[in-house]
Amino acid sequence: HRLVCKDELPSTQKEAQHLAEDGAEEGTVVLAEEQTSGRGRLGRQWHSPKGAGIWMSLIIRPDIQINKAPQFTLLTAAAVVKAVKRATGLDCEIKWPNDILYKGKKFVGILTECQAEAADVKAIIIGIGINVNTDIEDFPDELKDIATSLRIEAGKTFDRAEIIQAILKEIESLYKMYMDEGFHFIKLLWESYAISLGKKIYARKTNGDVIYGLAQGIDDEGVLLLRDDDGHIHKIYSADIEL
Ligand code: BTN
Repeated sequence: HRLVCKDELPSTQKEAQHLAEDGAEEGTVVLAEEQTSGRGRLGRQWHSPKGAGIWMSLIIRPDIQINKAPQFTLLTAAAVVKAVKRATGLDCEIKWPNDILYKGKKFVGILTECQAEAADVKAIIIGIGINVNTDIEDFPDELKDIATSLRIEAGKTFDRAEIIQAILKEIESLYKMYMDEGFHFIKLLWESYAISLGKKIYARKTNGDVIYGLAQGIDDEGVLLLRDDDGHIHKIYSADIEL
């Protein structure tokens, strides 16, 4: 891995995007102690206070078509759940597509972005934000009820470097498995950690439409399949999920 570590960046994701455009090699990792404009999904902000968490972006260059890129969001989520378990002993869960929760509260967000030429992927930038040693006072008011950190949950301070190492190791091993054997095993692993499957949920799409139905599973592209009460199957590409 090539490591780029900074005290402060607007966003590790933006930095990694630029490095990838300039030809940075696969495995390049960008880390910052603090992000001044951390980005979340759907154009949201990601609160990234100094020294409290892991704010990291990883560049990979798999030889795949662009429709397979969402699979890497699921691969990353499964890898982070495994790594957190190994490094901290805590069992956490995935909320489709990319939130990781502990006892119902979010402490990890994952954002994957893709650079492509026609249908070929040139780079995938995997952004991972983890609230590690954040205290409840550090969260803005609107997050206090829905967000948490490893320290809040476990009552002790964690070594961020150890968690980063565990995550990179798990991503590497799942990535290798993906390249050798395809998505099938990753999908099963992801499904074993997912909370919403088999439950009735609301999916609020980016255009404001809400679909209510039974979360049946994900398809081979990582798309969520929702069956409504009339038996229609909806493919959900991007949405917020409410249980
Ligand atoms: C989400 O849940 O909305 C995704 C949050 C992703 C946050 C990470 S922190 C490191 C990387 N840099 C960013 O600006 N965002 C991602």
